[in-house]
Amino acid sequence: MVRIDIRFVATGVAFGLFGMAFGIWMGITQEVQYAHLHAHINLVGWVAMILFGLTYRAYPAMGRSALSRLHYWTALIGAVLFLPGIYMAAFEGVIIFAVIGSLLTLASMALFFTNILTHAKKPD
Ligand code: HEM
Ligand code: HEM
Repeated sequence: MVRIDIRFVATGVAFGLFGMAFGIWMGITQEVQYAHLHAHINLVGWVAMILFGLTYRAYPAMGRSALSRLHYWTALIGAVLFLPGIYMAAFEGVIIFAVIGSLLTLASMALFFTNILTHAKKPD
């Protein structure tokens, strides 16, 4: 069985490693114009994914639902489009990836909310 809590945690850690390494590079080189991108790799990637994973761990019935898989893929694809999209919007003037990625990120939160409402109270 897919352990969606572990998937979210592992995905969050991967973003966290990347976001922190990027922060160190930014600090060393003083290329701080990328601070918004760095902030959202850590916040949408590390912080949000870890919180999703720990919530699925706390409420196992939510993690067993099909909605949790849909939530995972929406969150992952959203982040993968949104984060480079921040760079492209800020430095290349191309906004489409930030628009689609941020709407998918928002949709993933709405799916999470729906999952809480429909599954959190079910027996473990
Ligand atoms: C090894 C770890 C990290 C390093 C070396 C690092 C480094 C930096 C640097 C150099 C800046 C730019 C500061 C400036 O504008 O002068 C920054 C900004 C920021 N970082 Fe980090 N960071 C790290 C981890 C994190 C984590 C884990 C988070 C969030 C969970 C985070 C959130 C932010 C935020 C919100 C900003 C401000 C962005 C802005 O002003 O637009 N950072 N960080
Ligand atoms: C769909 C998802 C999101 C979108 C579209 C979004 C968008 C934005 C925008 C437009 C800014 C202002 C940047 C500027 O000053 O030019 C910002 C700043 C910020 N956001 Fe987000 N955000 C999202 C998710 C989040 C999440 C989940 C967190 C925290 C867990 C977060 C934390 C922050 C923080 C701390 C700042 C101020 C630091 C900075 O300017 O980079 N954001 N965000």
